[in-house]
Amino acid sequence: MHHAGTVELLERDRELEQLDRLVTDACAGRGRLVLVEGPPGIGKTSLLEAARDRARERDMTVLAARASELDRDFPFGVVRQLFEPLVAAAAAPRRATLLHGAAALAAPLLGGGAPEPAAGKATGDPALRLFHALYWLTANLAEQTPAALAIDDAHWADAGSLRFFQFLAARLDELSVLVALTARTAGPTVERQPIDALATDPLAVVLRPAPLSHRAVAALVADRLRGAPDASFCDACREVTGGNPFLLRELLREVAADEVAPIGAHVSLVRQLAPPTVARAVLLRLARLGDDAAALAGAVAVLGDGTPLRRAAALAGLPVERADGFAATLVEADILAAERPLAFAHPVLRSAIYADLDPGARSRAHRRAAALLADEGAAIDAIAVHLLATEPAGDRQVVATLREAALRALARGAAATAVACLRRALAEPPATSERAAFVLELAAAELAAGEPAAAADHFEAGLRVTGDVRARAGCVRKAVLALQTLGRHDEGFALLERVVDEAAAVDPDLAQSIEGDLIASATLERSRRAWALDRLDRYGDQLTAATSGSRKLLATRAALDAFSSECETPAETLANAAERALGGGRLLDDGPSTPFFFAIIVLLLADRIEPARRALDRAVDDARRHGSAPQFAFAAGWRCWLLAREGHLAEAEADARSSAELALSQGWFVMGPVILGYVLEVLIDRGELEDAHRLLERSGMVTRTADRDATFDDVVHARALLRAARGDLDAAREDLARLARRRARWNTYPTLVPAVLAAPAAATDDQDEGRARADRMLREAQTWGTPRAIGMALRAAGLVEGGARGLELLAEAAMVLERSPAPLEHARALLDLGAGLRRANRRAAARDPLRQALDLADACGARPLADRARQELRAAGARPRRPRLGGVHALTASERRIAAMAAQGCSNPEIAQALFVTTKTVETHLSNAYRKLAIHSRAQLGDALNDGRP
Ligand SMILES: Nc1ncnc2c1ncn2[C@@H]1O[C@H](COP(=O)(O)OP(=O)(O)O)[C@@H](O)[C@H]1O
Ligand SMILES: [Mg+2]
Repeated sequence: MHHAGTVELLERDRELEQLDRLVTDACAGRGRLVLVEGPPGIGKTSLLEAARDRARERDMTVLAARASELDRDFPFGVVRQLFEPLVAAAAAPRRATLLHGAAALAAPLLGGGAPEPAAGKATGDPALRLFHALYWLTANLAEQTPAALAIDDAHWADAGSLRFFQFLAARLDELSVLVALTARTAGPTVERQPIDALATDPLAVVLRPAPLSHRAVAALVADRLRGAPDASFCDACREVTGGNPFLLRELLREVAADEVAPIGAHVSLVRQLAPPTVARAVLLRLARLGDDAAALAGAVAVLGDGTPLRRAAALAGLPVERADGFAATLVEADILAAERPLAFAHPVLRSAIYADLDPGARSRAHRRAAALLADEGAAIDAIAVHLLATEPAGDRQVVATLREAALRALARGAAATAVACLRRALAEPPATSERAAFVLELAAAELAAGEPAAAADHFEAGLRVTGDVRARAGCVRKAVLALQTLGRHDEGFALLERVVDEAAAVDPDLAQSIEGDLIASATLERSRRAWALDRLDRYGDQLTAATSGSRKLLATRAALDAFSSECETPAETLANAAERALGGGRLLDDGPSTPFFFAIIVLLLADRIEPARRALDRAVDDARRHGSAPQFAFAAGWRCWLLAREGHLAEAEADARSSAELALSQGWFVMGPVILGYVLEVLIDRGELEDAHRLLERSGMVTRTADRDATFDDVVHARALLRAARGDLDAAREDLARLARRRARWNTYPTLVPAVLAAPAAATDDQDEGRARADRMLREAQTWGTPRAIGMALRAAGLVEGGARGLELLAEAAMVLERSPAPLEHARALLDLGAGLRRANRRAAARDPLRQALDLADACGARPLADRARQELRAAGARPRRPRLGGVHALTASERRIAAMAAQGCSNPEIAQALFVTTKTVETHLSNAYRKLAIHSRAQLGDALNDGRP
């Protein structure tokens, strides 16, 4: 074997020491990533081998993969090389352990059997679902024994696998896993970005093996050639090879073959034999071995490293026994490695031999390779990789295979591969009758691959020739998205109108379903609102909630009515419509779309909590089942709003933080700014001002000016609260003024919540203006009809009014809010009332509402509010009880949530999977909780948590 383990590595002591340390770290549960970088031949693979040997010595489970040029378009090919043999070889119980929990979602990828769930179903990038699953597979594996993942030539790995290693690297710290990769530093086929991302991970160690010194070169010369070498001869060898061990090895093999003595007189010969002719040297060497050996080498070059002899023989047109002999000859000549399945001694040799094949012959060989693999029942993706390297030949079977490969790639989030397959399939070409469908599929893949311009062109071309209305309707959403991405909004909506109108005649439900989504998204854009309303109006009162289309439209209309300043429909009626639209959860059947969240908004604004809670809980559960982190982040972000409105601020904070962590790390706030608004408000109500500030800064949304985008209002509102709370009153005022310009019902949207309520310190209204606003607020609240809205309006009126009348209004507000499901608002009204009474020197009368306010604020977990109530009580001459600091009350929101799940009997990995965090995070929170609760075991958790129940 040419690899290390048998060959002694010269001048690599430092690297080997580092590898030892990394292996030790990994075994101790401190996972590490090591990247060995350098030019071809410098000794990367040899170091990787050394790492594997060390891992084996420490009884780690070693999984290995080697990427080759063919792997680029093999979705998750490298990941599959790593894990497939492990899963396939595992007996049933071990298999069950490995694929336990969230890891089960990786089974279709690794088993090859059952197809993955369709791409469109869960929200977001399907690749993320696989990362989540593969992460847990790795965690399950390392739970039993420490593991090492060794990936050679990662620069050729497919994008999905590389992104997974990045995903894993960020979470490696707490697993007993060593990830070791090698990659070339440069070269025409090397894309640096994903490798750089790995190299710059804070936990990554990068090794860059240096060229061999004169001494090492001299040692190798002495070892390889007969006779004591002259220094000048060795110098020449070092100079021409740059100290590259592979080039040196090749040079010395030529020198040895020519029986040149290593003496000074032969220095010029060394220069002649030296690279850049190494490729030619290999080809000459190969030619000397005869046509059949060359054919076998060519077959291995086409099939790629890791080819079974049988397959290579078949492709070379040789009987297996003879091929076996030629393989031995090629090993003898140091062209193939002494290993089975067949592989080159070095990738540089494969590249040289592959590049030397005649292009026509190469294409034919790949086509035959594809056929051989198909006969063996190989995976579609493995076959497609070869078809991609062939020249078009009008073969329908090729078209069909490439199409299937494209669909699979899409389902795994490998959109670029899907694009490659479909472009190649179109060139084959498909039958004329199929062409339009291909063009549309290509357009969709291009959109997913981030090529909106190509996508828009292909959508246009495909739609122009597609006669089938259903097919047109099926892709119009994406076509509009492509146009919108390019800023061609008008064209997008015009196209939509056309297609939906056509489809309405053929398949009304399909037409409505599309229109439902698009109208919903159009309403979020101020300039499209009128268009959306106009389209909605066409349905009159005919929305029955019997079909998915009408449910979406119904939900959208309920939300529009709830926001519209012209609409006078009460909350009750709109909540009924929203509940009908939810259809017992059926609105979630196509995943959580904008209309789904519209229904939730209406229910929450109407204080009809239960159906909203059920729907959001289901969205969270679905997200967990599908392993969809974005869906989890969105559903949790909405649920934090629900919980906050009910006054469960600690639970709300737990949801807010889960949502924020995921959304921040992935940049999702840009897609759903509403969530950011909810999350910020919860943090502010909890008194976590610095965290809220940091979150806003890091969200990338702080400086956005988005007046055309209504979804941004919640962020502006939260930002105003935050700025006011932090004492930046001018900035807070600016935000409030901006929101006040919006036309909406004040009580259904944060836009018009008057400054006296949002941020009293920043309120600048004169009394008349304030009164006018409070009046309008009250009128609209009464129309809306919920105690929360009316109580808040009365409170605003009371604050504006002041004096004895103001106190009356505040008392009335408190009374109304007492009957509402809004304990936090109730507490605020009581606090204002108490504070007003105290200022009016009615200190005794002030104490009772202040005590109530304090109790409510404490029960809600609203710390700043409770603090203010305490201050007021003291000022009113009472001695408020001290805040409860110990026990359950000392737990953070996340600690409390995780402790509660543990008390219910969930294991740490189960909790981690459910919350999309790592097991280590769960362990940290739990040990903090144990400390604060002064307990030592899980069994005590239940009682300790219950102690704190008020
Ligand atoms: N430090 C070293 N000392 C001696 N020989 C080495 C050393 N590193 C690599 N080699 C030899 O050089 C050749 C190329 O090494 P390899 O690890 O395959 O390089 P790379 O993976 O960087 O292309 C192999 O034959 C290997 O045995
Ligand atoms: Mg190598």
